[in-house]
Amino acid sequence: MFNVAVFVSGRGSNLKAIIDHFSNKPGIISIVGVISDRDSCLALELARFHNIPTFILDNSNQQSSYSQLKNNLLNADTDLIVLAGFLKKIPDSFVDDFKNKIINIHPALLPSFGGKGMYGENVHKAVFAKSCKVSGPTIHFVDKVYDNGIIIAQRAVDISDTKSWDEIAVRVLQKEHELLPEVIEKFANDKIRIQGSRVVYST
Ligand code: GRF
Repeated sequence: MFNVAVFVSGRGSNLKAIIDHFSNKPGIISIVGVISDRDSCLALELARFHNIPTFILDNSNQQSSYSQLKNNLLNADTDLIVLAGFLKKIPDSFVDDFKNKIINIHPALLPSFGGKGMYGENVHKAVFAKSCKVSGPTIHFVDKVYDNGIIIAQRAVDISDTKSWDEIAVRVLQKEHELLPEVIEKFANDKIRIQGSRVVYST
């Protein structure tokens, strides 16, 4: 079994997409934990509903909290950490601890519209304001800089006819829900490799 931990801060629609996708394909992954920087959010409720262990990060004691989390994730033989709407920056030491094992989903086509402050509706508003004709989710490895790691997968969405940023948000989110489980499945099937500065899929 391929062990996945999911970090969340909000509504958890990507977590739901992962749970739904793999409940139709049992035996591929196990979600070993859902981790949040908030003590209450919809994503945590979803995790508890599915009896997935949860871990709440203590923001006032980040160092010891992440060190405890590290032990828990190592004890659970965690293969992949997925940031699915997790808003806090991951400490550099934790990125080192799980080198090339942390991925993030971002709701725009990086390297545009990323970086600090580019989350949630800010992203879609900026895309709309630039009159972009395509947008879409990007999944990338997490390094020590916001939205900077090398890109694993992207899916372009035609937004040329949209009249508002929230229409863009809806279209992109729908694609996120397809792309993220697909990418996790590729990891689980050992089909994703890093070659130099590129991410390649094997067949
Ligand atoms: C998604 O748009 C994701 O790309 C971004 O945060 C949002 C999380 O949404 N990183 P949800 O909590 O999965 O519904």
